[in-house]
Amino acid sequence: MKKVSFAEFGGPDVLRLIDAEEPHAGPGRIRIAVRAAGVNPVDWRIREGQVLSAHPLALPSGVGLDASGVVDEVGAGVEGVEVGDRVFGEGSSTYAEFAVLAAWARMPRGLTFEEAAGYPSVVETALRVIREVGVRGGETLLVSGASGGVGSAVLQIARERGITVIGTAGAANQDYLRGLGALATTYGEGWAERVRSIGRVDAALDLAGSGVIRELVQLAGNPGRVVSIADLDAPKLGVRFSGTAGSVPDALAEAASLISRGKLHIPVEKAYPLADAASAHIDSQAGHTRGRRVLVV
Ligand SMILES: NC(=O)c1ccc[n+]([C@@H]2O[C@H](COP(=O)([O-])OP(=O)(O)OC[C@H]3O[C@@H](n4cnc5c(N)ncnc54)[C@H](OP(=O)(O)O)[C@@H]3O)[C@@H](O)[C@H]2O)c1
Repeated sequence: MKKVSFAEFGGPDVLRLIDAEEPHAGPGRIRIAVRAAGVNPVDWRIREGQVLSAHPLALPSGVGLDASGVVDEVGAGVEGVEVGDRVFGEGSSTYAEFAVLAAWARMPRGLTFEEAAGYPSVVETALRVIREVGVRGGETLLVSGASGGVGSAVLQIARERGITVIGTAGAANQDYLRGLGALATTYGEGWAERVRSIGRVDAALDLAGSGVIRELVQLAGNPGRVVSIADLDAPKLGVRFSGTAGSVPDALAEAASLISRGKLHIPVEKAYPLADAASAHIDSQAGHTRGRRVLVV
């Protein structure tokens, strides 16, 4: 089968489309014929060797955590899924023609494979940070970096729970945030004042890692009501860094339910052929993805 692989840590040019042995579904796993793979920032962070403590790996390595496709092997002990089912989920080396998934759910009716590949990691992360920051219906959540994959999911899940969201994004994404039910303003010079003029903030999320933890604490009034997923220095200011994934099966089940009820939609910014994984990484690393980028097999 064809698979994207890298043999050394480095820039996008280390990615190669190679011929590889097909993986097989061990106990508790399924194998899918991949139709699309989600491109997450962690993919290029792993490729660069940035996050080896959280994601240890031997080289050469495949790339990718998220995928959608058609089940073609069911491992021992797995129930409730059959060969031929259309699923989306998380596994490893998903930038490939076949991949093994450790967590999956049936794709909601009407969802395309391209769309489905964009949900698993961002929905798990969004549900986790909303839980960890302890925000409830009736409160106002400030989201720094609200237009990316995780931000898009946070805004819609918060809206569903009766939480008011103030989101920051670039000028081109202000209407996008409003369309997801948020109050919107731009990041950059004077952003904290602009947020203050919109209204009171009860809790805040840093999804962009743009060095704004101090201001988020001031706006939320308490470091215990701020969580970052992108600034490893956040704990120096008493703010929790969230880096350990919660239950992916639970997140997929909730994603499927929200999507089916029309409450959650993560747009696909761009779809690339598998052979163009390096371009997808370059574009993701530029830091202005709306929703998710995906690779199509
Ligand atoms: N710790 C964890 O468990 C975990 C999990 C998932 C992701 N992450 C990390 O969290 C970050 C976000 O992930 P993602 O998948 O949502 O990324 P993404 O889809 O690439 O989105 C990045 C977003 O950041 C916004 N942005 C760029 N510069 C900004 C600034 N100065 N201020 C505010 N927003 C800015 C962009 O908005 P505009 O386009 O509007 O400029 C873009 O929409 C990444 O660094 C990722 O590695 C961590």
